[in-house]
Amino acid sequence: MALRTLATRKTLGELCKFQQQIRGVQTFTLPDLSYDYGALEPAISGEIMQLHHQKHHQTYITNYNKAIEQLDDAMSKGDASTAVKLQSAINFNGGGHVNHSIFWKNLTPVKEGGGEPPHGSLGSAINESFSSLEKLIAKMNAEGAAVQGSGWVWLAVNKELKRLVVETTANQDPLITKGPSLVPLVGIDVWEHAYYLQYKNVRPDYLKNIWKVINWKYASQVYEKECL
Ligand SMILES: [Fe+2]
Repeated sequence: MALRTLATRKTLGELCKFQQQIRGVQTFTLPDLSYDYGALEPAISGEIMQLHHQKHHQTYITNYNKAIEQLDDAMSKGDASTAVKLQSAINFNGGGHVNHSIFWKNLTPVKEGGGEPPHGSLGSAINESFSSLEKLIAKMNAEGAAVQGSGWVWLAVNKELKRLVVETTANQDPLITKGPSLVPLVGIDVWEHAYYLQYKNVRPDYLKNIWKVINWKYASQVYEKECL
């Protein structure tokens, strides 16, 4: 009887896995960076970049995929309680994947234009909304430094109002949790794992230096796509 139960469970497990394959459960993989880990030095060390990308971002993806597979399994069994229980893991790890995927694109080596101020429509919009790029940077640094614990500071555009805003989010909450019309232009990770090895616990020093490798060209492209 015990053997029969075991065999039945095994068969059901295999069937479930087969059904997942048939349904094609989407899983996520670590995106490649368009630059070498050491290419952002001295603003961000290669050691931090490698650890941040290969360990931290990968862990969010691994846990996100695991939670999605568990959700799919729960849904196929009509297990609402487990489905609800999985939501926080999905939000946290999915948010971690979304946020870091944006963050890598927000950075670029100095020799490829990192830190070069935005021109064109985004440059004008920044001057209009914040008086100058320097004032915007000061505002983001102040708000980023004030995030309690872990989180993110964002320059975003409200695509309905076509207005620039600065927002912060806690933990791995993505920007969209602050409003469905917000599109991220520049997101800065203020978790300790993003700077501790190089800047110890002095987050303001990290914030001061990261602007040297911000990819304003990418931010301008997103802005123009959303607002022009
Ligand atoms: Fe991070």
